[in-house]
Order: sequence, then C-alpha cells, then structure tokens
Amino acid sequence: MKILNAVLGATALAALSLVSAVANAAGYPERQITMIVPFAAGGPTDTVARLVAENMSKTLGQQIVVENVGGAGGTLGAARVANADKDGYTVLLHHIGMATSDSLYRKLPYKTLEAFDYVGLVTDVPMTLLARKDMPANDLKGLVEYAKANKDKVTVANAGIGAASHLCGMLFMSSIQTALVTVPYKGTGPAMTDLLGGQVDIMCDQTTNTTKQIQGGTVKAYAVTSPARLDVLKDVPTVKEAGLPQMEVGIWHGIYTPKGAPKEALDKLSGALKVALADKNIGARFAELGTKPSPESDATPAALKAKLESEIARWKPVIEAAGQYAD
Ligand code: MLT
Repeated sequence: MKILNAVLGATALAALSLVSAVANAAGYPERQITMIVPFAAGGPTDTVARLVAENMSKTLGQQIVVENVGGAGGTLGAARVANADKDGYTVLLHHIGMATSDSLYRKLPYKTLEAFDYVGLVTDVPMTLLARKDMPANDLKGLVEYAKANKDKVTVANAGIGAASHLCGMLFMSSIQTALVTVPYKGTGPAMTDLLGGQVDIMCDQTTNTTKQIQGGTVKAYAVTSPARLDVLKDVPTVKEAGLPQMEVGIWHGIYTPKGAPKEALDKLSGALKVALADKNIGARFAELGTKPSPESDATPAALKAKLESEIARWKPVIEAAGQYAD
C-alpha cells in the first residue's frame, strides 16, 4: 500500500510540473518580437530602442528585433503597429512625436488614443540646439542674429513633421519670430551626417545623438533644452540661461502595442522593461548620452497612457497657434 501511494504521489508531481512547463511553454513570448522604430537606423530613437530591446530580450527569453520604419515624422511606423496583429509580437518605441502628430496631422491613419495599448515610459531625453562647426556665431544670441540676417538661406534639418527635431525647430523659429528653411530627413541619424558635412546649417536634436559630436567638437552647440545643465555637457548653457526659456522641452519615450494585445503580453513586456530600466549598464550608457532611465514607477501602462493624454492636450494649442499642419 505504501509503495502504491509513493508511486501515485510521484506520478501526480510529474504531471503537475509537466502542466506548468506546458503552461509556461505556451505562455508569451513563444517567438521573436519585432520592435518598430519610426525613424532611420543610427539615430537617437534607434539608439534607445536597441539598448532597451537587447536587455528586454534576455528577460523575456526571446529576441526583440528592431525594425526601422522611417518617414512622415514617425507616423508611418506608428501606423504599421496600429494595424499589426494584436498578439503582442509587434511593439512600437516612439517619443513625444506620438502626441504632437495627433494635432499636426489632421488625416492621421490611426486614432492615437484608440489604436494602441501601453507598456510603459522609457526615458526623457533633452535636446541640443546645434549648428555646423563653421557657423559664424559663438553663442545663441549670435546664432539668432545670423539666422535673422540670413533667413532666406539658413537651413534647419529635421526628421519630418511630427519629429522631436521638428518640434524643437518649431519652438526655435517661433521663439525668434523668424521662419527658416526646413530640410526633412527620415531621421536625425542621416541629418547629422549632412550637418557634419556642412550641407545644412542648424539642427535641434536629442543628446542621445549629439553628445559625442559635441564632445568631439564636430558641431557647435548653443543650448540644451533641459531645466539644468547636463553633467556630460557642462559647457553648454540651458535655453533659459541662453535667453530662450520657451524652448525648454524633454523628449519622453514609451513602448506601445496594437490595441487588444493580450494582458499577459503587456504584463511581461512591462515587467521586462522595468528590469531593463533598473539595469546598471543601461543606466551608465544612458548617462553617457545625457539622459537617464524613467523611474520604475513610470514603466507601467497607466503612466504612459497618462503621459500621452496630457501631452496631446499640452501641444494642441501650441500647434494650432503656429498653424503648421502636415496635411
Ligand atoms: C530619430 O530617431 O531620428 C529622431 O528621434 C527623430 C526626431 O524625432 O527628431
């Protein structure tokens, strides 16, 4: 009788662990995940995405592959995810452009607040106002005078209407009350190449793409859009110090899925994001690039949803006042 009970017990135990193994095996993720970055490879959003994706892959036990879908200021990539399968295997890493595009595009191919589910906030990156290295101006006052005196030929690069570089460029032009010639790219990665080559004059771009160039002296930096100076760019004044406080802006980033993704997928993605943001290496890498991970409390669907809603409300009147629409 004792032997029979032992055998039954062992069988039950084996069965139990099999069930949980199957349950786990059947659980999300079972295969590779695609992370859409709505700007060209090699730019600031791509840099953030690849760092976070690599770490999240380890936690999830499946590869997250970054795919760059640039164009239309980030709305092409966002539309790709809005229309993707709702199975949790396609995610979007996008930034403040998600909010500004909602007002800039009157014919957006998706409803920003209805087409996505939320994973969490990732980081909030300051921007830097730059010019080609031979720009004949050594401070923001001089740059503004040069721009006003040459307004028909001074060019400002950006990553399309709806991009962070477009928003910052718009804030610069409205602050100096002068419209300049804008040159759109699929991302500030390729735009930086032309700024380094002197093909364009000015660009406002995220520190995740500019810090190394500024430290290397290959571009001129006039101001950073954060409230305080950055440790990695101590010599660069804030826009407030430099005289254009209305240019203060942070480029917050978040991860989304198509609306209707399984709760299990959202929970696991959010869990993996928390781990990534707490990772020392990611913290160190972000710091080198002038930013920091969002606090763990913001790596949640609720925090990202609240941020997107408040930012859509914040930028709508600014964009309507500027009257600059993409369509
Ligand atoms: C990029 O990754 O190219 C940028 O985020 C574009 C932008 O928004 O300025």
